[in-house]
Amino acid sequence: MIGRPLDRRDARAKVTGAAKYSYEVVVPHAVYGVIVASSGIAHGRIAAIDTGRALRAPGAIAVLTHHNAPRVNSAAEHADKKLRLLQDDQVLYDRQPIAVVVADTFERATRAAALVRVRYDRAPALLNLHDDGAQQYAPAHANREPTDSRRGDPESAYAAAPVKIDNLYRVADEFHNPMEPHATIAVWDGPRLTLYDAAQGVFSRRSTVAAILGLAESDVRVVSKFVGGGFGSKGGTQAHVLLAAMAAKVVRRPVKIALTREQMFHGTGFRPRTEQRVQLGAKRDGTLVSLSHDVLTRTSTFDDFVEPSAIISRMLYAVPNAATTHRLVRNNVGTPTYQRAPGESSGSFALESAIDELAQATQIDPIELRLRNYAETDPQKGKPFSSKSLRACYAQGAERIDWSRRTPAPRSMRDGGLLIGLGMASATYPTNRSKASASVMVHGDGTALVQSGGIDIGTGAYTAFAQLAAEALGLPVEDVRFDLGDTQMPPAPVAGGSQLTASVGSAIVAVGAAMRAKLAALSLADAASPLHGLSYDAITIANGTLSGGGRSESVAALVQRNGGSVSEMADTTVMRPDEEPYSAHAFGAQFAEVAVDPDFGTVRLRRLVGAFAAGRIVNAKLARSQFLGGMVWGVGMALHEEGRYDDRFGRVMNASLADYLVPVNADIPPVDVVIVDERDDRVNPAGVKGIGEIGIVGMAAAIANAVYHATGVRVRDLPILPEKLIVG
Ligand code: MOS
Repeated sequence: MIGRPLDRRDARAKVTGAAKYSYEVVVPHAVYGVIVASSGIAHGRIAAIDTGRALRAPGAIAVLTHHNAPRVNSAAEHADKKLRLLQDDQVLYDRQPIAVVVADTFERATRAAALVRVRYDRAPALLNLHDDGAQQYAPAHANREPTDSRRGDPESAYAAAPVKIDNLYRVADEFHNPMEPHATIAVWDGPRLTLYDAAQGVFSRRSTVAAILGLAESDVRVVSKFVGGGFGSKGGTQAHVLLAAMAAKVVRRPVKIALTREQMFHGTGFRPRTEQRVQLGAKRDGTLVSLSHDVLTRTSTFDDFVEPSAIISRMLYAVPNAATTHRLVRNNVGTPTYQRAPGESSGSFALESAIDELAQATQIDPIELRLRNYAETDPQKGKPFSSKSLRACYAQGAERIDWSRRTPAPRSMRDGGLLIGLGMASATYPTNRSKASASVMVHGDGTALVQSGGIDIGTGAYTAFAQLAAEALGLPVEDVRFDLGDTQMPPAPVAGGSQLTASVGSAIVAVGAAMRAKLAALSLADAASPLHGLSYDAITIANGTLSGGGRSESVAALVQRNGGSVSEMADTTVMRPDEEPYSAHAFGAQFAEVAVDPDFGTVRLRRLVGAFAAGRIVNAKLARSQFLGGMVWGVGMALHEEGRYDDRFGRVMNASLADYLVPVNADIPPVDVVIVDERDDRVNPAGVKGIGEIGIVGMAAAIANAVYHATGVRVRDLPILPEKLIVG
């Protein structure tokens, strides 16, 4: 059952339109909210706002501004981020929400929104990392990890090292663009609020919304049955969710707010630009003696978010002397947020480019250099890994891309007039897990309904969880229905940090064991059962049948005779990180073959290979899609994605998918995903490591390293644009 490449169960519903995404849920009497955003100003205050014409527009019902919006508890301690919710006249970034117009149709709301007139008092804005007045500071933490780390004496080791690498690497501001933009429907029933919301976690959404609106959590229900991609932006709660609830309160009708594609570039979070200094000290044989990784990045002027790019440098290599730091500056931008593999994706570009530069400096093959510095145990935590198959990833990936044909010198491989390059990089992502719960009800026809309030953000969770549940229960997978996406179900964590399958999967294992024990006990005690009187240990349940002592009966028959249904519930807990006996990570190796036209600087990919070891793979087909999707996004990071700002107004200038480039099919060569066999019984009861994020990690470095190998030009600031390769 586990590993089988089953088609996703919701595929037909999705392609026929039967699957209702949040904005499509039919809610009677719903009206439409459109957000008005500040314009032409990145910092200042609203001097005057005139809503008269908007209110007189056809279909207009209400306009909320800071003058009349309901007051909220914006400082709520449990809010996962601070939001700009029409509570004052301050403008802290370009395209900040300053009003919400509600009308009877989306079009009329859009029209009325265009009629709101605003006058601003402008103030100087901070828009870049090194603007005068942009003070660097150490945040309290780096995405739940310590801000800085230190072991040994990296400065002395570096000073004494015969080989030194010291470079600055830059990654651009990047924006999430899931196919489904953010959308929310807010429905009040007296004091109770229901949200149909494009969310990565219904429970985390509920606690944030309840805290900010001053509601009891039991009075808030969040439903999210189908989500068209999240990637972090739908993890934290964004302003429109609260604004929909506030507007619905005011107009006493359900309010729907969907963000436009353009609005996806403003205030829904983004991956903030980083400047990363990496210093490597090594012996001539390539052995690392010191590693320093210092990250400068930015957040908004009103909340802290850290892109924790240096965390990967704490654990990837067995280097005795290492230090990492994260520093922030405040800019007049919306607060950044988690974006697929926050930290590891941007950080691996810097670290794995620097390792490639060391390979060049020492004349050692890049894979061999990594093997010479292979970390057998986690060098920062001092703990063994629960499992680590990175050697196998290097070997299997290298074989698949035929690494042995690579000639070491830059510009040494050609195809006609094109320069050919082969590059590689390591990948890793921590295996996270949070407590989760699951329930199961087995019916008299032998089918089961299993529930846990996780989310399927497009990964195939409905299908993977049904497979895990079928195995845990001993039922055929066709007889198991899995439901999720509702706070009325047993609690589950956010589908983020690549943790959902490990978390809910462990709860499924627990509830399956509890149900099998209950069914076995029922059969022993039931005089009508052929298994009556056997010993408990003699009974096994598989494929819908209880067997023991050469006798058997179906689960269906047993349940029919015993009340028609049997239910169970299980909760899992997790250890505090410092109590965990093992360091848990998925690992991988990324490879790229590029062809560069030396006259035009154009990079064409010829082949990508990613080899990943991530514990038990629940569904090989869905897993391949996750890895492949991450790798393709890594191509975007390497070659395309860059938020461009107008430094007069702080405006994202390329706020559309026409101007903000992402890879399209024509950019993507044949991609090989190699799933490296790995069994890990220590990591968690489900035996799975996360796979949602590791696919992007290392891809940008692999491509940059391949471009260097092809051209001899080392590009240290992403994306790798043609002009950066034209060096005369
Ligand atoms: Mo992921 S960036 O934790 O949704």
